[in-house]
Amino acid sequence: MKKTGKKITMLTAYDFPMAKALDDSGIDIILVGDSLGNVILGYENTLPVTEEEMLHHLKAVKRGVKNALLVIDMPFGSYHLNPEQGLKSAIRFVKEGGAEAVKVEGDIYKESMKMMIKAGVPVMGHLGFTPQLVNLIGGYKVQGKTKKDADILIRSAKELERLGVFLLILEMVPQALAKRISKALKIPVIGIGAGPGCDGQVLVTHDMVGLYGGTAPKFVKQYADLGKLLKEAVSTYMWEVHTGKFPGKKESF
Ligand code: KIV
Repeated sequence: MKKTGKKITMLTAYDFPMAKALDDSGIDIILVGDSLGNVILGYENTLPVTEEEMLHHLKAVKRGVKNALLVIDMPFGSYHLNPEQGLKSAIRFVKEGGAEAVKVEGDIYKESMKMMIKAGVPVMGHLGFTPQLVNLIGGYKVQGKTKKDADILIRSAKELERLGVFLLILEMVPQALAKRISKALKIPVIGIGAGPGCDGQVLVTHDMVGLYGGTAPKFVKQYADLGKLLKEAVSTYMWEVHTGKFPGKKESF
């Protein structure tokens, strides 16, 4: 797709019905993101998400996916101790959950990534703002704004490509820099808050359909307000139950 210039589409899913809806729509890649910590489990950030929680949601998503490439995020703490731990977690996601690839944030755990690739687990990279480093970065901030930081980011991206990652996510990076990196790499670069110059785009589905209770970041475009529809449906249901309109003849035996 990168060679032909067709943009790659990627969205997140955490359960069966969402995975099925995305897959039926023809999405290219479905990510079981550790963003499930924020949008599904109600944590403040992605740091508390466990391997067990990811696996539980991966299994549900797997049942809804027929065509899309299924990728899972390696959660915080599942690859940080040593490369063997990373490999063990990745193999679990493939063997028990049916993931076809894993995503690893940052460029610090290269040995872990190398071992996964060697073992036959395709690895997706993630640079720019990496949510698992939120405490170190000190908040949700655009990355690569200075020349020095931009040079570091370009170097890291090239290094990850050399290492063998098959695709790179760039999060919250100035659009000119993201475009430059996309052009410089042979592997596809998917942007999130990285402008239109990337080879594709990814968003957290719950953000873009208005299903997340919190505040969505600036880079999110909201394509639907399912949260509002849901509240309206619940209110109507309550009103009909209270007034005796539901259940009616049609819904009764
Ligand atoms: O966890 C996630 O959903 C992600 C995407 C936003 C890229 O990492």
